[in-house]
Formats: sequence, structure tokens, C-alpha cells
Amino acid sequence: MLRTCYFIGLLGLFAAIGCGEEVGGDPPVVDSGAIQGPSAPTPYALEVPDYFPAPVVDPDNPLTEEGIELGRHIFYDKEILSSDGSMSCASCHRQELAFTDGLNRSVGIRQLEGGRSAMSLVNLAFNPNGFNWDGSSTRLWEQAIHPVEDMLELDNDWEEVLRKLRTHDDYPARFRAAFGVDNRSEITRELTVKAIAQFERTIISADSKYDRVVYRNTDFFTEAEQLGADSLFFVENVPPGTLHPGCGHCHNAPGFGDNRFRNNGIEDVASLDDFVDKGLGGVTGSRFDNGKFRTPTLRNIALTAPYMHDGRFKTLEEVLDHYAGGGHDLENEDPNITGFPLTERQKAALLAFLGTLTDESLLTDERFSAPR
Ligand code: HEC
Ligand code: HEC
Repeated sequence: MLRTCYFIGLLGLFAAIGCGEEVGGDPPVVDSGAIQGPSAPTPYALEVPDYFPAPVVDPDNPLTEEGIELGRHIFYDKEILSSDGSMSCASCHRQELAFTDGLNRSVGIRQLEGGRSAMSLVNLAFNPNGFNWDGSSTRLWEQAIHPVEDMLELDNDWEEVLRKLRTHDDYPARFRAAFGVDNRSEITRELTVKAIAQFERTIISADSKYDRVVYRNTDFFTEAEQLGADSLFFVENVPPGTLHPGCGHCHNAPGFGDNRFRNNGIEDVASLDDFVDKGLGGVTGSRFDNGKFRTPTLRNIALTAPYMHDGRFKTLEEVLDHYAGGGHDLENEDPNITGFPLTERQKAALLAFLGTLTDESLLTDERFSAPR
């Protein structure tokens, strides 16, 4: 049986604070390491545009200024998060790429490729349907546990993360400020991921050309953008029976992804049992859910190539060719996946429209950047 010991460095003295059998979870709590400093967190109200839905509130993790700031520090901290100090969350969720990584499938600290493409982290506060492509994490803070310990991602051990946080010069006071803890030993995995989730919930993207034209009336679409919006992307104004892209069926405004799980027809497999990645089916165990993935946001889509859960399409042109070609007639394909004619002019219009979903201010907003 493995035995582990924990040490807390305090005032230059190292005190062995517990040696026990490895059970996983948090190191044992001992009475040492009082933290000084303020402990009254300041409630934070999310600034949500009036045309957005109400954010999903997590009563177990209310937002506070100090919690968000702590989460931002951890999100960007390679030393704390990865076993070799080489990567943080931000290595795969890069602000300049709308918090994706530009790879078809993510590569972790061991240079091994994972099975899926990194997701954009914008507007997570509005997703009621579970996180990850397959919805496998029901709560945002719970999601953050996994990349830390995944061998294909940060390949760390939570006990090691907590040991570093508890013995750090700066973090204990930040945990006290955010969560009111009195003692270093009260810094837990749950508080760590809750802080990260608080930071993530503040990342709101609502400053694209689309927002300026449609909701703020301070800008205009070009002719091509207008054509893309009115007659192609959205489904209004289309005579019944017309073969039509209808992207807005599933990628509807203002989120441009309704977070529901669907098979959008990308996979050419013989039967529902043959998906390489079962997606939602892997979570629910239901065969009919195999090959269904969460409908993601198209906000900032021009920046987040390659596309789909496995990054199979390098460009948006390839994505449009897929949808225009229709699916593969599997019984669980969404009924809105039907082929449609797409002229070069219409294709250019759809691409122009998709370009209006880019939010440049998000990419440099210092509230979401690495702390200095
Ligand atoms: C090695 C690259 C990598 C690292 C490091 C990484 N992620 Fe991710 N992230 C991914 C991939 C790939 C997915 C999609 C996972 C899936 O669907 O199974 C993802 C998905 C997510 C999602 C889900 C978003 C949504 O809309 O459902 C969140 C939130 C997230 N990551 C946060 C984090 C946080 C927080 C960290 C650091 C603790 C982190 N990630 C570290 C690659 C990475
Ligand atoms: C039936 C619902 C549905 C319709 C209609 C639809 N999509 Fe999708 N879309 C999805 C789903 C589900 C996914 C995720 C599939 C996956 O990754 O396996 C997706 C993924 C995407 C992606 C990749 C996003 C990323 O982050 O990698 C793009 C781009 C996209 N769709 C664009 C469009 C466009 C443009 C149209 C119209 C031509 C369209 N979609 C129509 C459901 C739909």
C-alpha cells in the first residue's frame, strides 16, 4: 500500500503534518498554518447584455471579485497546474484564439494527443446542459478537476497541486480573501476548481459586429453579410419546402449554439454502434445517443479552426461543404441535416456572415488575460 506524507512550509519551518494511507482526495486536515489578511469576499454581479438569457446560477459557487481573481491566477499558472510546470489551462485555451488552441486535437504535457478538440470558453455561464462535447461534466467547477489529472492534459496529481497551493507565498491569502478560510489546510480541491469556474463564468463574448448591427444599431452589415444572415443562416423568410442551410435551427442567436446534443451528420459509419467517439452515448449509455455532441457556439468561429469535436475540418469552407452535402442517413441524425444547393456567391455570403461573429475586444480584454 502506498504511503504519502504532506509537508507545509511555514515561517521557514517544515512540519510533517500527516502521513497516511493513500486514499485520494484532499490531504488530511491539521491544525497549523493560520492565514492572515482580509476574509470578506465582495459579491460580483455578472454584466450580461439585456438580449442574453439569464445566466445559469450556481448557488454552491456565488461569484465574488476575489474568487474570480484567484481563479484567473490559477487558470494561467503552469507551476501549480502541470506536473512539469510546462502548461496551464491557458495553454490549450488561448485568449487570442477565443480560448481554443488551434489544434485539431489537444496535446498535453507528454506531447500525447487527446481524442478531442479544445472548446472555446466563452459564454459558459449560459450553458444549462453539461460541459465538454459530450456533456460529461454537469457542473462547471467539476469540469476543471479533470484536465489537471488527465494524463493526456496536465498529468498532475491533486494532492501535489494542493501541496503547492498551501505552501505558496501568495495563494493562501487569496484563498482567504475569496473563501474566508482561516488555515492553509482548508485550501481544498473543491475551492480551487470553484475559483477557476468563477473566472470562467465571467468570460462573456458579446461585442461582435453582429451584436453592434443587430442589438446596438451602431454598425451596418455589408451586402454579403446581410445576404448570409437573412437568406441563408437564419430560417425566417424561407418558403416552405425550400432546401436551406438553416444553421440557425441549432446555432441560434444570441448564443449561436443552443447547447443541445445532436448528431450533425459528420460521421459515415455503418450503424449506431460504430462511432469511434460515442459522444453523448458514452455518457448516457443509450445507443441512440451515440454520435451526438453538444451544439457549440459559433461566436468567434473564424478564430477557432479546426472544427468539430475531433477537429476534422480545417476550414469553414470544408464545414459548409459538409452541411451542403447533407449527412449520412443514420437513424439518429438530426432532421435539420439535409443537403442544400450552395452557389459560390451564397457560400461567400455565409462565410462573410460567420465573420461578423468575431469579437475582437474579447481577445485583448485584460480581465481575461494572464495576471501580471
Ligand atoms: C491539453 C489541452 C487542454 C488543457 C491543458 C485544458 N483543456 Fe480544457 N478542454 C480541452 C479539450 C480537448 C476539451 C474538450 C473535452 C471533451 O469534450 O472531452 C476541453 C474542454 C473544456 C471545457 C468545456 C467547455 C464547454 O463548453 O463545455 C472547459 C470549461 C475547460 N476545458 C476548461 C479547462 C480548464 C479550467 C483547464 C485547466 C484546469 C483546462 N481546460 C485545461 C483541452 C484542454
Ligand atoms: C441540426 C443542428 C445543426 C445544424 C442545422 C447546423 N449545425 Fe453546426 N453543429 C451542430 C453540432 C451538433 C455540432 C457539433 C458536432 C461535432 O463536433 O461532432 C456543430 C458544429 C459546427 C461547427 C464546428 C464548431 C467548432 O467549435 O468546432 C461549425 C463551424 C458549424 N457547426 C457551423 C454550422 C453552419 C455554418 C451551419 C449551417 C450551414 C450549421 N452549423 C448547421 C449542429 C448543427
